[in-house]
Amino acid sequence: MPDLTGRTCLVTGATRGVGRATAEALAKLGANVVIHGRDSASVGAVCRATVRMARGGLVTGAVADFASLKSVRLMAEDIARQHPQLHVLVNNAGAGARQRRETADGFEWSFGVNHLAPFLLTKLLLPTLTKSTPARVVTVASMAYRRALLDFDDLQWQRRKYRTLLAYSESKLANILFTLELSRRLAGTGVTANCLHPGVVATNLFAGLGGRGGKIFSVIFRPLLMSPAAGAKTSVHVASAPELATVSGRYFERSHEVALNSNAQDPAAARRLWDVSEELVARAKA
Ligand SMILES: NC(=O)c1ccc[n+]([C@@H]2O[C@H](COP(=O)([O-])OP(=O)(O)OC[C@H]3O[C@@H](n4cnc5c(N)ncnc54)[C@H](OP(=O)(O)O)[C@@H]3O)[C@@H](O)[C@H]2O)c1
Repeated sequence: MPDLTGRTCLVTGATRGVGRATAEALAKLGANVVIHGRDSASVGAVCRATVRMARGGLVTGAVADFASLKSVRLMAEDIARQHPQLHVLVNNAGAGARQRRETADGFEWSFGVNHLAPFLLTKLLLPTLTKSTPARVVTVASMAYRRALLDFDDLQWQRRKYRTLLAYSESKLANILFTLELSRRLAGTGVTANCLHPGVVATNLFAGLGGRGGKIFSVIFRPLLMSPAAGAKTSVHVASAPELATVSGRYFERSHEVALNSNAQDPAAARRLWDVSEELVARAKA
């Protein structure tokens, strides 16, 4: 078991599910843990519960609604002010949208919350991460990426008939392409970037996705799914395993590196997504 004493780890979406179990496991390894959620009461309750199982590290909270890039910016400023060092950023928060709806900045909800928010958060925290090296950015994607292809002419689902699962899957493919480009940009800095699929885990995610698939996984198959603690194992492994200290730009399932399908191995698409994302977050600020 790695000893994370003195290392500070921010886990987004840590109020429940895989994120909460990840934060708990990191706290048990001795890390200082920052628990993010969008509701301050839930964040406070999870901080109080996590501190009871922590191995000596500090447990603090951070609040932001990822459906608002302004909220993400404010949280990033707070974190950089309160935590001079950040060794691990786990981009875990994520969800699906039953119908096409938009974030506060006018982006399709899954793309905005699951991709643009962690894209912006990571960029804003890079100065803190790079002065805390060795540091790691761990992004929780999904094997659902396999069914997706990014439609650069319609990233916001304005032209196509909205499909909940496909929009979610595209945002998870975006998580992977983001990781590949981030890793390329961070080469030689001491900050690594990797991504993963946590497994099929019994959380609120499926109920949130709705539809027949959501019902099947949230009700019928629920007893067969992994527990959140089991689902957190790959995130914790990628965030802390000593043998991964310099490994970057990789995708993991069940704590093992797995080759990506061709749709997620396209450096040109990764670069294009990065450029488009920069334009979109800049436009949201204007
Ligand atoms: N469960 C699976 O089988 C599975 C499979 C593949 C990938 N994943 C990925 O694993 C990650 C964690 O999901 P989970 O299964 O643990 O789901 P979950 O139990 O629904 O937890 C999702 C977390 O994200 C937060 N979140 C949702 N919308 C947010 C927003 N607008 N702003 C800020 N935070 C927000 C939630 O906060 P609230 O408590 O405020 O809602 C919660 O903490 C996601 O990225 C998901 O795509 C899960």
